[in-house]
Formats: sequence, structure tokens, C-alpha cells
Amino acid sequence: MVCIIRPMKQKDIAQVAEIDREAFPSNWSSFSYMSYTQELGNPLAYYIVACAQERAKTQDAGNTLKRKLGSVKQFLSRKPSPGEKEYDADEDYVVGFAGLRVILKEAHLVSIATRDEYRGQGIGERLLISVIELAAKLSASIIALEARVSNKGAQALYKKYGFREVGIRRAYYSDDGEDAVLMEVNTIALASFQSNLQRLKQAHSKKWTHKFYSSW
Ligand SMILES: CC(C)(COP(=O)(O)OP(=O)(O)OC[C@H]1O[C@@H](n2cnc3c(N)ncnc32)[C@H](O)[C@@H]1OP(=O)(O)O)[C@@H](O)C(=O)NCCC(=O)NCCS
Repeated sequence: MVCIIRPMKQKDIAQVAEIDREAFPSNWSSFSYMSYTQELGNPLAYYIVACAQERAKTQDAGNTLKRKLGSVKQFLSRKPSPGEKEYDADEDYVVGFAGLRVILKEAHLVSIATRDEYRGQGIGERLLISVIELAAKLSASIIALEARVSNKGAQALYKKYGFREVGIRRAYYSDDGEDAVLMEVNTIALASFQSNLQRLKQAHSKKWTHKFYSSW
């Protein structure tokens, strides 16, 4: 598999909304499609996607068809938002995404998710590396985020990249009242952080046989 990390485009939104729905089922609403459209127009928001190229050509065609039909069924089972359209299976297959909002020196990781069947393959980590690089490029010095206290997998990923717990937001999640752990890394502008990031990026590249490329 070749995995391209690139800025999110309008044509990716249906797939990103699908991943959002799968990853955050209790937060998902039929407005997700529209909110991603708004985010693309937000000058403070930066969204990236991971695309598994060649997937439709090289992998089980039955699965591809099932996915397309499943996706059509999902889209038909709810009220589509205005302007929403089914994605084309011949386009890039989006397997993950991440979103960042940056205000002056502070970046906020709004969301990060990978498709269920693509988890544990280094994609979430590569998205996080790209998001950190992007924040540094935009001259942010801090990245903050919230994670469910129960989401130990995501927290382990963030900790690997230097995020530390700095607080708890009580009953942050409106669907079930779960607390959020507030995490941040405030050293991204430091040379020591950047050299460690490059070391982790190299270790990540060595670990995974599939190739990751960024295109921006
Ligand atoms: C969190 C998420 C984005 C990770 O993506 P992924 O592609 O599965 O992650 P990777 O394969 O790149 O894993 C990288 C690191 O994450 C951590 N990690 C990921 N899943 C983990 C799990 N289930 N348990 C423990 N650690 C985990 C590990 O530190 C791992 O590094 P290692 O392989 O050196 O141990 C993915 O699980 C997801 O989409 N979850 C649902 C959405 C979500 O919870 N998003 C975060 C909101 S705060």
C-alpha cells in the first residue's frame, strides 16, 4: 500500500464524514458533512487526509463493491445534507484524517481518526506526525487536544509524541457525560523537540513496509 498524506479537499468530505461516523458514533450527526464543508472554508482550520492509493485496483474487488454498497445504504438511511454526494470508489480511498485549528501560537487538534479496518497500521501515527509538522510550519508553539479519559489508545499515541496531561474537563462529552483529559505539548518550536520528531518519523518509516508520502 502507498499512503499519501495531503490536504483535505471538497471531494474527500463524504469519505471523511463516513470515517467520522465510524470513529465517533455517539457524536456523529447528519450535519457532519456540512460541518466539514464549513471547516474547509475556515481560514484557521487545516485538515489533512491519508489516502491509500491503488486500493481499489490491488485489493479484493468484492470488498470494494461491498463498501460502496454499504456506503450507499448508510447515506440513504439518513437525511442527506444539502450538496452532499456519494463518493466515487475510483477516487482516492481516504483511510484517515486529522484536523487542526491554529490561532496565533496555539494549535488545537480538533480530530484524528483512521478507518476501523486500517487501524494499527501506523496511519494514525503518520497523520499525527504530519499535523505536528504542519503546526510547527504555521509557527504554533503549543498543540492542545481533548481525549476521552477512556481512550487509552489515543492517549498512548499522543504521549509518544510528547503530549502531557494538563487537566480534566468534567463531563466534556455531551452524549454520555464522560470527562475529557486535556493534553498538550508546548515544546514544538524547540530544536530538541523537532529532532526527536524526526527520529520518531524515521523509526515509523522503518517499521512500516507500506510507504508514506506527504504532498504539500
Ligand atoms: C486513535 C487512532 C487515530 C490511532 O490510529 P491508528 O492508525 O490505529 O494508530 P497507529 O497504528 O498509527 O498507532 C500508533 C501508536 O498509537 C498508540 N495506539 C494506537 N492504538 C492503540 C491501542 N488500541 N492501544 C494502545 N495504544 C495504541 C500506540 O502508541 C501506537 O504506537 P506503537 O505501535 O509504537 O505502540 C485510531 O485508533 C482511531 O481512529 N480511533 C478512533 C477515533 C479516536 O479515538 N480518535 C482520537 C480522539 S482523541
